[in-house]
Amino acid sequence: MKRSRAAATAAASSGDALGATISSLGRRFTTARPRLSWPAVPELPVLDHDAVLGAVSPAEAIERVREAFVRYHRGEWAMPPKVYLDSPPHGDFRAMPARGSGLALLKWVTSFPGNPERGRPTVTGVICLSDASDGEPRMLLDARSVTALRTGAVAAVAAQALAPDDTRTTGIIGCGLHGAWAARCLATAGYGDGICHDPRPEAARRLAAELGWRAGSRAEAVGRDVVCCITPGTAPVVEAGDLRPGMHLNMLGADGPGKAEATPAAVASCALFCDEWEQAVHGGELTAAVAAGLVTRDRVTELGAVLAGAAPGRPGPEAVTMFDSTGLAIQDLAVAARAYEAWREGRIEAQMVHL
Ligand SMILES: NC(=O)c1ccc[n+]([C@@H]2O[C@H](COP(=O)([O-])OP(=O)(O)OC[C@H]3O[C@@H](n4cnc5c(N)ncnc54)[C@H](O)[C@@H]3O)[C@@H](O)[C@H]2O)c1
Repeated sequence: MKRSRAAATAAASSGDALGATISSLGRRFTTARPRLSWPAVPELPVLDHDAVLGAVSPAEAIERVREAFVRYHRGEWAMPPKVYLDSPPHGDFRAMPARGSGLALLKWVTSFPGNPERGRPTVTGVICLSDASDGEPRMLLDARSVTALRTGAVAAVAAQALAPDDTRTTGIIGCGLHGAWAARCLATAGYGDGICHDPRPEAARRLAAELGWRAGSRAEAVGRDVVCCITPGTAPVVEAGDLRPGMHLNMLGADGPGKAEATPAAVASCALFCDEWEQAVHGGELTAAVAAGLVTRDRVTELGAVLAGAAPGRPGPEAVTMFDSTGLAIQDLAVAARAYEAWREGRIEAQMVHL
């Protein structure tokens, strides 16, 4: 059953069959079982993968993710640390909460790197969006599409904040699910003339064809102005010798302990930015360089501080900037909140469920 918010409200007030049953049960047992007199949880909209992508455009995701970083930096949004639950030897689960702008979110999401070999996606999961004033759930969303949109969006937000203004050429290293969304969001933000590289040539060719870019070698991709790495992070794809003055790197693939896409020496050679220090130091591109004593906290600036105007961004035109994205729940909240708005505005339909 798919319904817009307007239809859901009408069904509830005109005596939807299940709703009527629940409220008559409530009346019948009011005296003996006062707990049942509590209002039933209203019908809950559920957005599947395609509904999320239909609800939030890449341009909206970019704008909302940028705003989320600023609000979090200013202390207006809250985000406790991500909790990892290993599932060896297959992968891990992550529980990611955030609160802001009247809503609270929990994302229960995975990274199972061996899944593609079995024809399954690396990342799957569910998001619960709740009202921050009464705690009631308001929407369930597919986590995969929200993650893809917000991960792609941060690539564009970081490039706009940190790459030199006149740089536009783009290299994508790793053209799987999230590499594709990073490329789409960078293209939406005006980056182009891209080179897509992947050991699976068909993945690189498919993405390049979609965007009017070109498939190419790793060396060609890393030779662009804005280079976005989003591989499984099992082997470095960027070395110190690849760095050139004025380039900007988005390192998106290392989002958990033991993953890295650049050598520690390459990391240590850059002007460094991250989404959140604690997370980046625990399981991000910075982790190995920090553990080796090559990078210290004072050398790394959080993106939110740059976006809020509280810290400088690129040190100069010749610098090599590197942004370490580990993926934050505030990014998920930014996209999920926009999808919820779209449903409330009647722009998209949702499947309706009772809990
Ligand atoms: N930073 C974040 O917010 C964030 C969000 C989601 C996923 N991730 C991480 O990003 C990584 C990629 O996730 P995905 O869902 O896109 O996976 P995916 O399996 O869909 O894509 C990975 C791609 O990288 C390619 N690849 C592997 N080795 C490569 C190499 N040496 N050079 C170039 N390409 C190579 C693979 O062929 C594949 O196409 C994972 O580590 C995942 O955990 C990070």
